[in-house]
Amino acid sequence: MQRIFSGVQPTGNLHLGNYLGAIRNWVRLQDDYECIFCVVDLHAITAWQDPPQLRASTREVAAAMIAAGVDPKKHIVFNQSQVSAHAELAWIFNCVARMGWLSRMTQFKEKAGKNRENASVGLFAYPNLMAADILAYKGTHVPVGEDQKQHLELARDIAQKFNNDFGVDFFPIVEPVITGEATRVMSLRDGSNKMSKSDPSEYSRINMVDDADEIARKIRKAKTDPEALPDSKEGFEGRPEAANLMAIYAALSDESVDDVLSRFGGEQFSTFKQHLSDLAVATLSPIQDEMRRLIAAPDYVDDVLRDGAERARAISRPIIHDVHEIIGFLQSPNA
Ligand code: TYM
Repeated sequence: MQRIFSGVQPTGNLHLGNYLGAIRNWVRLQDDYECIFCVVDLHAITAWQDPPQLRASTREVAAAMIAAGVDPKKHIVFNQSQVSAHAELAWIFNCVARMGWLSRMTQFKEKAGKNRENASVGLFAYPNLMAADILAYKGTHVPVGEDQKQHLELARDIAQKFNNDFGVDFFPIVEPVITGEATRVMSLRDGSNKMSKSDPSEYSRINMVDDADEIARKIRKAKTDPEALPDSKEGFEGRPEAANLMAIYAALSDESVDDVLSRFGGEQFSTFKQHLSDLAVATLSPIQDEMRRLIAAPDYVDDVLRDGAERARAISRPIIHDVHEIIGFLQSPNA
């Protein structure tokens, strides 16, 4: 059985990187797999979240998934905190994963920064919760952007150690699915940093809720270099900002970078940026219109999440039951 699990944090500022690196790929995979897509609110609170804002962002992320084309009837869309299996299995994985494994996680090092002593314990144990998200459903494939690769390697290590420790072949070894021309969309201001929800500069990212004028302004102001567009991919050597804009164009137009360059090679960036901005607006605006409609009708989104959570519980319940059995926890047979 092949089952997809993936998630997005409701931490505000859902951006083009989240769309091109993850959500758009989910839409494409839903014809071939059974899918579970999650708004990971338990992950969000590893850093402080304002409660009304968290509620709004949870609905916004769910709305973005549906507006982008995820079918919540055929597949499961829900928010993590409604299904207790995530927190339960995460505790068990806290006892399987080793301190050393988590200490090597680059995302923890980046997010905790110099102030490690003051980071929440949840931020440190974050990848264990991520492994629990996937394995509570015996998920086999996980479509994500490049930045989540290390966390998925850890999920594989956890599954393997659990299976070895208890002498079982219980958890699958998850496969990352990292595809497309935009697996790592970079900041529009600095081609060496990824586009991120937490970047203080609004000009670093295109938000899913930005209107056409904002998108055009951000692309116009995006950092580039004085050179024209090269004729082939190799011409982007040492030009990370230029390469990033090209990767965004290729991903949005669903072409390879080489195909796009066969049209635009030799052009000035000012011309190319105009094309990019038209393409971004044309691609995003139908999704944004639908997002706005869904956000204005929160009852529908809340119903989708409630229904999704119920179906998610039905899948995870027998799996958690088996985990308890394997570990040796006493339980009533129908719990
Ligand atoms: P999050 O919320 O940071 O990002 C959601 C998805 O967007 C991708 N992404 C990007 N892709 C390309 N370029 C970028 N600049 C960019 N920024 C973000 C991420 O790779 C991700 O796929 N820990 C995860 C959420 C999570 C999860 C899971 C994912 C929790 N449990 C289980 C998969 C399976 C996160 O913080 O994603």
